[in-house]
Amino acid sequence: MADALYINGRFTTTDERVLGVEDRGFQFGDAVYEVFKFLGKRPIFLREHFRRLEISLRTLEIAAAWADADAFAATIRELLARTAFDDGIVYIQVSRGEAERSHFWPDALTPTAVAYSRRFAFPDAAKKELGIRVITTRDLRWHGCHVKSVNLLANAIAKKEAQRAGATEALMLADGFVREGAGSNFFAVKNGHLVTHPLDEHILPGVVRDRVIDLALGAKIRVDERPLREAELFDLDEAFITSTTQGVMPVAEIDGRVIGNSRRGEVTTTLQQLFDALEAAS
Ligand code: PDD
Repeated sequence: MADALYINGRFTTTDERVLGVEDRGFQFGDAVYEVFKFLGKRPIFLREHFRRLEISLRTLEIAAAWADADAFAATIRELLARTAFDDGIVYIQVSRGEAERSHFWPDALTPTAVAYSRRFAFPDAAKKELGIRVITTRDLRWHGCHVKSVNLLANAIAKKEAQRAGATEALMLADGFVREGAGSNFFAVKNGHLVTHPLDEHILPGVVRDRVIDLALGAKIRVDERPLREAELFDLDEAFITSTTQGVMPVAEIDGRVIGNSRRGEVTTTLQQLFDALEAAS
């Protein structure tokens, strides 16, 4: 309740039904999105999310919904001022626009830009120490995973599979390699250094991933950006996932097998603390 919704230049709440049925986001998944966190009404890593939104839009040749980062920040400021709660997430979606249904899109469509605030139960200290169970599953996604598009069917199916197995995240495997989580990036820790998938079409360039790599390097922790082989998964000292909503979250079990010594590892703990401090200071 008392959320706020922005759509194409005006403000309302999510009680209002604002989208047309021929919006291409609805009919073709022809849209991109972002999710950022706010704490005490402060947006976290807003510029980084805007930058990624711009790249997603440019890649798919969807018109820009905000002239620049300042215009975007102004919309977000007003959205949060209209929101009744202090902490939560903002979901932003920009679709190519609304047009009579056809695979061919008309040139010069006006994009549909929405942003709305939501409460969110971020993990508490106990959860952050305990970590999560994950499963592995086949990566059924397309070769454009670096674009944050709303085509999340394969991700949703993978997440449901995880939930049915008593886990909360699914690691996507393809061609014998670990790509990323269905809604997060994946980091392995072996012999004190990190291994995470390089930035390419197989993974989303996570905002938290980027920050964590910087923090690791600053703490003299080696980072190998290379695809982890599936077989390496069960010989790790530690593992964690990163995302906007989960921050740095330890992985306690993969497919029912305990990782490391079953407690949050040292490297994971260090990076979790560094990241939480960075988030609190930003
Ligand atoms: N998901 N990989 C995938 C497939 C994701 O969906 C996400 C984030 C990430 C992590 O990105 P970031 O660190 O920028 O949040 C990686 C968001 C939170 C979501 O879909 O809700």
